[in-house]
Parts: sequence; C-alpha cells; structure tokens
Amino acid sequence: MIPGPTPVPEKVLQALGRHPIGHRSKDFQDLVEITTKNLQWLHQTENDVLTITGSGTAAMEAGIINTLSKGDKVICGDNGKFGQRWVKVAKEFGLEVIKVDAAWGAPLDPERFQEILEKDVEKEIKAVILTHSETSTGVINDLKTISSHIRKHEKALSIIDCVTSIGACNVPVDKWELDIVASGSQKGYMIPPGLSFVSMSQKAWQASETSNLPKFYLNLKSYKKSLSNNSNPFTPAVNLVFALDESLKMMKDEGLEKIFQRHIKNQLAVTEAAKTLNLKLFAHEKHLSPSVTAIQIEDIDAEKFRKTIKNKYDILLAGGQDHLKGKIFRVGHLGYINNRDIISVIAAIGNTLIEQNKISTEVAGEALKVASFHLSET
Ligand SMILES: Cc1ncc(COP(=O)(O)O)c(C=O)c1O
Repeated sequence: MIPGPTPVPEKVLQALGRHPIGHRSKDFQDLVEITTKNLQWLHQTENDVLTITGSGTAAMEAGIINTLSKGDKVICGDNGKFGQRWVKVAKEFGLEVIKVDAAWGAPLDPERFQEILEKDVEKEIKAVILTHSETSTGVINDLKTISSHIRKHEKALSIIDCVTSIGACNVPVDKWELDIVASGSQKGYMIPPGLSFVSMSQKAWQASETSNLPKFYLNLKSYKKSLSNNSNPFTPAVNLVFALDESLKMMKDEGLEKIFQRHIKNQLAVTEAAKTLNLKLFAHEKHLSPSVTAIQIEDIDAEKFRKTIKNKYDILLAGGQDHLKGKIFRVGHLGYINNRDIISVIAAIGNTLIEQNKISTEVAGEALKVASFHLSET
C-alpha cells in the first residue's frame, strides 16, 4: 500500500514472463502501435505520447530539456518533494526559476501563477512546471485552473508531472490544453517500474525546434521519428511493453469514468476512516489526492508505527520524506487496489492503535464501518 510501485495484476505479471521478442520485428511494431493508441486514449489526447525506458523523472527531464534553452525563465510550482525536484532539475540545466511555493500539505495557489503570468507582458516566461498529485504530501493541485492561466499567457508551455494522477483521476490533456505531461509505469498503470510516458503538444514540438539544452538518450525528436514507424530509437524494455499492453487493455475494459470513481471511493474510504480513528490528514481537506493519503500521527513515531504494521500484517506503508520522516505515514491507494486492500489497511491501522491504547475497539469498528460505507457507494 505504498504509492508506487503499486500491485501488479496476475495477467500483467504473466505478460512480463513471456520470452522477449526482437524490438525491430513486425510483432513488436504492432505492439507499439496499439499501446500508443491506448496511451492516447488514457491521456485523452491526439498528441504524441512517447514511451521511454526510464522512470518518471526521465519523462519530466525529457519534457524540460527538449523544449527549453539555457537561461530561459520558467515558473516552478513547489509544494512538496517532487515540486522541489523540478526546481532542482530546472536549475541544473541553467534555467531561471521563479518559484511559486506553498507549505507542504497546502495546495499551490492558482492566483499566484495568474499574477506572474499576467505581469509578463514581454512574454519572457517560457514554461510553467508543476506537479499535479504531490505524492509526498497527498495534495492534488488545481491543474485545471492553473492550466487555464497558462493558456491565457499564450507563450508559456505547461510541463506537468502527472506521475500519480494519470490513470487515477481525470487528466484530459486536450481539453485542458496541456503541452507536456509526464508519467511513470509503476503507478496508475499497474505495471512494474521501468517505463515512462511523455505526451507532447504541437506547441511543445515547435518549442523543441529552438531548444538548445544537451540531450541524446532523451532527445524526443528521435522517439517521434521512430514512432512514425512504430519503433523506438533504442532497445526498449520489451517485456514491460508486453505488460503495458495488458494493463492498458484492462483499463480500457474498466473505462475511464469507473477508474476515476474507484480511486475517489478508495480515497474517501481511507480519509474518512482515518478521521474516525482520530488521526489527522496532513493535506488540506479540499485538495486530497485520489492516489495517496498522508496521515499525521501524534505522540507516536510514524516510522515505528509503519514498521509494526509491516511486521504484524505484512502491509507496507510509505513514510514521510525529509522533514516529515517520523511525523507522517502515507497510504497509497492507486492502481490495482481493491476493497479488500482498503479494509485490511484500515483494520491494521485500527488494531495497531488499539494495542497502543490510543483508541477503543468501538472506534476501530466504527472506522471499518465508515470505510465499508464509502467503498459500497455507487
Ligand atoms: C509525483 C511524482 N513525481 C515524480 C516521481 C518520480 O518518479 P520516478 O521515481 O519514477 O522517477 C514520483 C515517484 O514517486 C512521484 O510520485
């Protein structure tokens, strides 16, 4: 129950176990064609969606280095570990960063993006980089509104980390006119780590014509050129593509709306049950990520707490990162997670709190009732 790598369905595991095939073969080309179409379906876009062998960070870095040039001015949203990472990456490549930050646990304020973009009459800002679902804190940022402000600017590209939002909640790439959207296989995609995905708008490709940042393995133009022949510039992780094919088929069978509803139900079950257990949510209530819930725990070391749950119930929870280590634990509920998983984790948390004399059995029972109620909501 960590927010990635997430559980992998049996069918997908079996696909991984197949004998690899040549990546220049017709069979593999067919696979690239179908997975690319299905990735466009998942992203709700007509844009190119490129598959990279590498983790989510590779996809984000690719978006940045393929469209920007040294010294370009960018806005970076920073309200957690991943927002912070994109500030670091941007600086590493010599970009001039205007930081829009918020306390960890709070959402980014769309108005601050609006103010800065409106003031930029010379159109010096080349991109807005931010994280949609901030996995480190369990906050979901208001991407729809921020993206509407970016569109009004007309020049700036949006470069969005959707690593824990694609496949869990609505990210209509075309409708919101998102330019670059990055994600990774080990999250909502329900496959092991190793692949990442980046969707590129026409505007992003135009920007790539003048981008001067160094790139070779992550030069997206090579991926686009190869994709026109349903191929890859380098040897891809063939077996992960088998797995991707299976998982995307499963997602299509379930349907986008149902996937989003399932994630909302999981989130509500976990967050409402946690409150019933007298635990505090770390993220602001109106900005809870459908993928991961961060829970504050008072008078108990969160690291010891999650170790106990691992040892006694064999359920792995994620810890807090950086200054939040020991102060929060995080429950991942994205991807291949079912009602049993949610009920089990609530029961394990409740029982551990009973053993530590923090709550009564009645309260633990009430939390399970609350979780069941939300899971059964249609
Ligand atoms: C929101 C977010 N962005 C980026 C990353 C980094 O992805 P990766 O570890 O696949 O490079 C993660 C990983 O947990 C994430 O949750």
